[in-house]
Amino acid sequence: MKFDWNTLAFLIFPYLSFAVFTVGHAWRYLTDPFHWNAKSSEILEKDSLKYASPLFHYGIVLTFIGHFGGLLIPQTIYDAVGIDADEHTRIAIVLGMVFGVMSLSGVILLLWRRRAKDRVAAASTANDTVTLALLLFVILVGTYNVFFGHYHLLDTLAPWIRSIVSFSPNPELMAEVPFAYQLHILAAFLLFAFSPFSRLIHIWSLPIQYLPRSYLLFRRRNYKF
Ligand code: HEM
Repeated sequence: MKFDWNTLAFLIFPYLSFAVFTVGHAWRYLTDPFHWNAKSSEILEKDSLKYASPLFHYGIVLTFIGHFGGLLIPQTIYDAVGIDADEHTRIAIVLGMVFGVMSLSGVILLLWRRRAKDRVAAASTANDTVTLALLLFVILVGTYNVFFGHYHLLDTLAPWIRSIVSFSPNPELMAEVPFAYQLHILAAFLLFAFSPFSRLIHIWSLPIQYLPRSYLLFRRRNYKF
């Protein structure tokens, strides 16, 4: 195996990040079960959170779905359903712009709120700020790429990420990818590795049992004295 910067960045670092991610979550779940939550600050300040949080969450969840659909599903499947590479790229750019701007404005508002709202600032830890700052960096570079990158990634970056997740890594595919895209990926893997030690653990506790749950009915009692 060649041992150069490209191998370090796009083979060793991603697997190291996955390892820390997996072991870190298991360790956190077993050693710190009572802090396994989103540490909601709604009780401290609601006026700006009610805009910032949904904007950010809708944006980031749709971005995740977009990354999954666009990068992990091979182009041959899209070709089979009549979406060629150019059409695929056009759809990815338009949706990426919309979801990118949503999550970017959301995370900027969340970070501003953490600093500007006294009660939230007083309850915030360095970990909260690092989490939001890392998210901001990953989203900012990703959104920059979608607006200004104009790089055709379906023959390099997309097969590279598939080679990583299928455990047949081919880091050479990343050698010619522009630096801004490489930076986005490296920052995202850093965020993955950091996430088990932050409030981001709440992502894995989606309350799906609420969907089929029957309604709770609250009725006003009419007291007759
Ligand atoms: C899977 C569905 C998700 C659910 C149900 C969920 C739920 C929540 C809840 C209840 C809060 C606390 C209240 C609030 O700030 O609105 C929160 C905060 C937060 N979530 Fe999520 N979340 C989800 C996904 C994500 C994802 C994918 C990310 C990022 C990768 C994320 C990042 C954050 C951050 C950074 C905060 C703290 C915001 C602050 O500064 O107060 N969440 N989430």
